[in-house]
Amino acid sequence: MLKKIEAIIREDKVGDVKDALNDVGIRGMNVFEIRGQGRQGGITLAGRSGTYQVDMLPKMQLNIVLSEQNVDETIATILQAAQTGAAGDGLIFVYPVDEVVRIRTGERGHEAVMYPGDIDEKKGRGKAKAS
Ligand SMILES: Nc1ncnc2c1ncn2[C@@H]1O[C@H](COP(=O)(O)OP(=O)(O)OP(=O)(O)O)[C@@H](O)[C@H]1O
Ligand SMILES: [Mg+2]
Repeated sequence: MLKKIEAIIREDKVGDVKDALNDVGIRGMNVFEIRGQGRQGGITLAGRSGTYQVDMLPKMQLNIVLSEQNVDETIATILQAAQTGAAGDGLIFVYPVDEVVRIRTGERGHEAVMYPGDIDEKKGRGKAKAS
């Protein structure tokens, strides 16, 4: 089974999270800038002419499509690297993924999300095909 992890994290945590994921062997991902709000509905900032409300705060979103067997470790790794304990640390969503196709080779599913030196190789769960 393939899953997609969508992790919404603080902008200043992207480097730490990426490094931590790299250390455990999570390779394929994409990152983009988003804006959003959570439970607090934004924050109140103090400006020169009084306070004002910012309702959509900048965050970073990481999308990672991976095998189900790697989901728990990936979530634990993100938590460890991204948690400050203060409001606004973000959220992690997990979705089912129907299919992945690597265009160059036509590989599908698990095969298409395997990389040399990745988490599966580290754990002796198979090797990515040589390119
Ligand atoms: N229900 C949701 N669906 C989609 N995205 C969400 C949802 N809730 C929050 N987000 C996204 O997550 C970001 C960070 O949310 P935030 O960390 O403030 O969550 P929270 O639930 O308010 O928790 P906390 O109390 O720790 O602040 C938001 O800016 C938004 O991008
Ligand atoms: Mg919040």
